[in-house]
Amino acid sequence: MPKIQIKDVSAHWGTPYRFINLADRNGPDMFANDIGTGLAATQKYIHHKYVYDADGSDLFEQITQDKNYYPAHAETEILTRFAPEIAAQLTDNTALIELGSGSAAKTRRLLEALLQKQGSTLFCPIDISGDFLQENVKRLSVDYPGLHILGIIADYYTGLAALTDEILQPKLLLWLGSDIGHTDRDKAAGLLREKMLPALKPGDKLLLGIDLKKDAETIHLAYGCPGDKEPLRYAFNCNALRRINRQLGGDFMPENFQRYCFYNENAGRVEIYLKSLCDQQVTIAALSQTFSFRASELIRIHFAHKYDQNDILQLGKAAGLKLEQQWFDSKGLYSLNLFAVAAD
Ligand SMILES: C[S@@+](CC[C@H](N)C(=O)[O-])C[C@H]1O[C@@H](n2cnc3c(N)ncnc32)[C@H](O)[C@@H]1O
Repeated sequence: MPKIQIKDVSAHWGTPYRFINLADRNGPDMFANDIGTGLAATQKYIHHKYVYDADGSDLFEQITQDKNYYPAHAETEILTRFAPEIAAQLTDNTALIELGSGSAAKTRRLLEALLQKQGSTLFCPIDISGDFLQENVKRLSVDYPGLHILGIIADYYTGLAALTDEILQPKLLLWLGSDIGHTDRDKAAGLLREKMLPALKPGDKLLLGIDLKKDAETIHLAYGCPGDKEPLRYAFNCNALRRINRQLGGDFMPENFQRYCFYNENAGRVEIYLKSLCDQQVTIAALSQTFSFRASELIRIHFAHKYDQNDILQLGKAAGLKLEQQWFDSKGLYSLNLFAVAAD
């Protein structure tokens, strides 16, 4: 494995950006194995991360432009209004590490505030969508000459583990898009505690975007529920099937599946599935396996958990984090939460 040497990077780096590709660190068969496990389960599922390649990232960007997709607009509003205030909470010379940076469109507000406050800044975006990450890092480096960017093409945890102990500066870990909501609520604190916090030191901070519980109608509009008439979101969710066809020799016929989603108010989460429209079989050559789908059978694609204030406080407490400050958009739909890593 490549050893990352980025200590004192801001002092010695000659180029504005670099990339480290750790995408194969978990083994080239991980995609195939995960798909095989998910499709053999009683409740079939495909992990949401497999929606993302260059096409998936591009489709997600188009969704963020939809006027009804309030999470993106609310988070943009918060960062536009409060980025200087957020930067003011940070120790000088803070490095920004972002999980699932995507286009980093919203991150730009924070980068501008950090550059304004501390001059040159180290930015380490971690994303599995490699081509998309590289394209966006190059764009950022042109737009912000004061940035040193280390783009990490990797799963969150692999990328973070590779950075642990390598960055000597104080760190802000940024996780936008309410992606914490993709983890079941009872597992979210454990995920932060066990997989994310080991990369941080006492005094480092975590800035977490968390979508708030609200009326079902607003959520249904944002997520295009119930889903059967929503071509953009349908194409986004079906991208996982197309990737399986392309990369694993699958013979999924996406037109034999319909998107199905709803806000489960009791559980406080959006549930998104692909529903089989008929009895059918799908063969995946890389697995030498055939999977049967009954008419109306569901493949779970992703859940998006929504939080209330009590849930956020519980999350911080259970993860061993101190909630220092929160910011909300003007309609109170969405929150950005600054947590501090306490000394043991
Ligand atoms: C919902 S998009 C959010 C993008 C951006 N942060 C925003 O808020 O607009 C999720 C991003 O995380 C990346 N991603 C999803 N799962 C990942 C994983 N397990 N490891 C690394 N990146 C992941 C995707 O490629 C995508 O860019």
